[in-house]
Amino acid sequence: MTVTVRVPAKVNVQLAVGPARPDGFHDLANVFLAVGLYDEVTATPAEGLRITCAGPDAGQVPLDRTNLAARAALALAGRHGRTPDVHLHIAKDIPVAGGMAGGSADAAGALVACDTLWGTNASREELLDICAELGSDVPFSLVGGAALGTGRGELLRPLEVGGSFHWVFAVADGGLSTPAVYAEFDRLTSHVTVPGPAVSQDLLDALAKGDPAALAAAVSNDLQPAALSLFPKLTDTLAAGRSAGSLAALVSGSGPTTAFLVRDAESAREVAGALRASGTCRAVRVTEGPAPGATLL
Ligand code: C5P
Repeated sequence: MTVTVRVPAKVNVQLAVGPARPDGFHDLANVFLAVGLYDEVTATPAEGLRITCAGPDAGQVPLDRTNLAARAALALAGRHGRTPDVHLHIAKDIPVAGGMAGGSADAAGALVACDTLWGTNASREELLDICAELGSDVPFSLVGGAALGTGRGELLRPLEVGGSFHWVFAVADGGLSTPAVYAEFDRLTSHVTVPGPAVSQDLLDALAKGDPAALAAAVSNDLQPAALSLFPKLTDTLAAGRSAGSLAALVSGSGPTTAFLVRDAESAREVAGALRASGTCRAVRVTEGPAPGATLL
C-alpha cells in the first residue's frame, strides 16, 4: 500500500509580530493564505524510518530525524504505541528555507499519510495537536485555505475568501533561518516598545471581497525589515516586481522568497517576465491562492 498527500505552500498576507514572550516565541496576528505550489509526501511500509527527497532543491533537505516529516511520523507512532516503520518520499516543489512553510507542509503531509497508511485514525483535533507540537506553521499546512493564526501562529480561525488572488513569487539565491530573522527583529526593535499584534480589519474585508487592490493596500509583514537587514539584495527584487506593475510587493514570512500580488493572470505573466529578466532572483513562480490544505491523492 502507498499513500500520497499533497500539501500547499503559504504566504502571509499580514504578519504582525508582538514582543518576545518568556518562552522565546512571539505572539502573532498571522494571516495565512495557502497558495498553489505543492509538495507531495508519499508513505510506503518499510523496515524503520527512511526519508528521501526529489526536486530541484532536494540537496538542501535533511534526510535524518531532524526533518519535520520524520518528526511527524515519530510523533504519531509514539502516541499510538507503534514503531515508525515507514519510507517517506518528499516530491519537493516548494522553495526550501524560503518563508513559504515548505518544511511545515512536509510535516502535515507526512502526518496525514502515516495516519492513513497505519490506520491510526487520529481525530482532526489530535492531528492539529501534533501539528502544533511540530511547529507554529504546521497546523495551517494541514487546514489550508485562509486563516488567522494567533498565539505563536498555531491557534487558527478559518477566514472567508471571496475569490482567487494571483501571485508571483521570486525565489532568492540562498535561504534564511526563521529563528535568525526573529532574532534580528528583536535586535531592530530593542529600543522601542513593540505593541501587541492586531489583525487589520481592512485586510479581512479585502480577503472576504476577493478584491486584490484592497488586499494590496492592506498587506504587511513586520518581519520584512529584519529579513531585508539580513538579506539586503531582496530590496532589488522587491523594486523589480514593483516597477513591473505588481499591486503589492513583500517578503514572504521570514523570507527570503518575495511575493508579488497582481491583478490577474496577464499581469502575473508580465511581472514574472520582468522578474526573470531582472537577474535579481534564482527562479520565478506564478500561482493563485487560496489553495486547499493537506489532501489525500
Ligand atoms: O515554531 P517553529 O519551530 O516554526 O519556530 C521556529 C523559530 O521561529 C522559533 O524557535 C522561534 O525562534 C521563532 N518563532 C518565534 N515566534 C513565533 C514563531 C516562531 O519567535 N510565533
